Amino acid sequence: MGRVGLGVAVGCAVVTCAIAAALVGRRARSWWRWARVVGVVGQFEEDCVTPVWKLRQVVDAMVVEMHAGLASDGGSKLKMLLTFVDTLPDGNEDGVYYALDLRGTICRVLKVQLGGSGSKIINHKVEQQRIPEELVSGTSEELFDFIALTLKEFIEREENGQVPGSKKELGFTFSFPIRQLSVSSGVLIKWTKGFTIEDVVNDPVGTLAVGHYDDADTVAAVIIGYGTNACYVERSDAIIKYQGLLTDSGFMIVNMEWGNFWSSHLPRTCYDIALDDESPNRNDQGYEKMISGMYLGEIVRRVLHRIAEVSDIFGDSAHHLSVPFILRTPLMAAMHEDDSPDLREVGRILEESLQTSGLSLKAKMIVVRVCDVVTRRAARLAAAGIIGILKKIGRDGSGGVASGRTKGKPRRTVVAIERGLYTNYSMFRVYMNEAITDILGQEIAQNVVLRVSEDGAGIGAALLAAAYSSKR
Ligand code: BGC
Repeated sequence: MGRVGLGVAVGCAVVTCAIAAALVGRRARSWWRWARVVGVVGQFEEDCVTPVWKLRQVVDAMVVEMHAGLASDGGSKLKMLLTFVDTLPDGNEDGVYYALDLRGTICRVLKVQLGGSGSKIINHKVEQQRIPEELVSGTSEELFDFIALTLKEFIEREENGQVPGSKKELGFTFSFPIRQLSVSSGVLIKWTKGFTIEDVVNDPVGTLAVGHYDDADTVAAVIIGYGTNACYVERSDAIIKYQGLLTDSGFMIVNMEWGNFWSSHLPRTCYDIALDDESPNRNDQGYEKMISGMYLGEIVRRVLHRIAEVSDIFGDSAHHLSVPFILRTPLMAAMHEDDSPDLREVGRILEESLQTSGLSLKAKMIVVRVCDVVTRRAARLAAAGIIGILKKIGRDGSGGVASGRTKGKPRRTVVAIERGLYTNYSMFRVYMNEAITDILGQEIAQNVVLRVSEDGAGIGAALLAAAYSSKR
């Protein structure tokens, strides 16, 4: 081989080595970035774990806080508000009742026709109105004028213009905390235009009323939707902070405002802490921020944003992930439940909301994994909260025969449950039911029924108006 030939051969070898080195370097960098993704997800998963022993700690913490909240106002982050509801509908109510259900920016008006003598609900009609944006931040008078007008028009349509002069029984349910002074008075309300508020209740109280109307074994109600809350039937004498409270029935529904529950046993991650720090209600609604629909998508977004910071798996669209609340929980649920082999739905949703394109299957799988971790933790913690209530009222089977059974037979306990996370998100439901069994054990868990209540809060408010009108 001549000198020229040797030179070309050496040159080729150098180029080949350089290409090989570049490839190896690229592969190493990509491996390293992927390892960081796995690290972020692994750490998050580890911080979110909810083994049964931890759930039991949460159950016990819930019981302790319930006692503290019942002992004195401000005794716990759980407000344990009195509702003055000491009568529940039993199926004997009859007549036509109206209800208003004010849920955030949605106002629903309902007409419920009851047949009496156990014939249950003959008919019910619901209409929904979105509250105009300008009213949400306007004066309460403008807001309530709008609601009153919506109701008036609904009743006029229903009664063919026969409203003036006729007295209507109206239930009113709010998806906001209300400090009630009696069953028919709560703060904020100044009703005009000839309507009388017969009954003002917080939304889970309506859910409990309708739950009890349908099934007399219902002892508690839980809302798990955009916000979360629970209420339950408490013995009057256990409500220490209201000494001397006498109710004919011997019980009262307590609105726990459980979204504000807090315990150091809750598995909190750096993402939860950041979410709370940046929220307008810092240090409040801690439990709600881990389990409700308003926040689950946002927790996922925060984890994905961190992943985008340490890797390039989301490509150019990573900056969209820095926008708070861009990933709403219904989208997160749809991605989580995508069972197509190539995760098409995940790709489509991310493309639409984050403008990603051509995401790898590996990246989509990571997204699903994060959704799973967030939802599983939420559902299991919500289950622990429910068992906490059952434990407080002796229905968790821990007191043996006395608490879990009547005359040797296991006692059936029903919890009415309402809103999207439980009703529309099947993975959430699966994880929640699984956790109930994990905590209680199969034998006791089979007597605990989580019963879905559709539109319970609104219908329940009408039922309470009916129950109280027959009491007067
Ligand atoms: C509110 C509760 C309400 C719950 C469910 C929470 O954010 O504090 O009063 O019952 O949402 O709507």
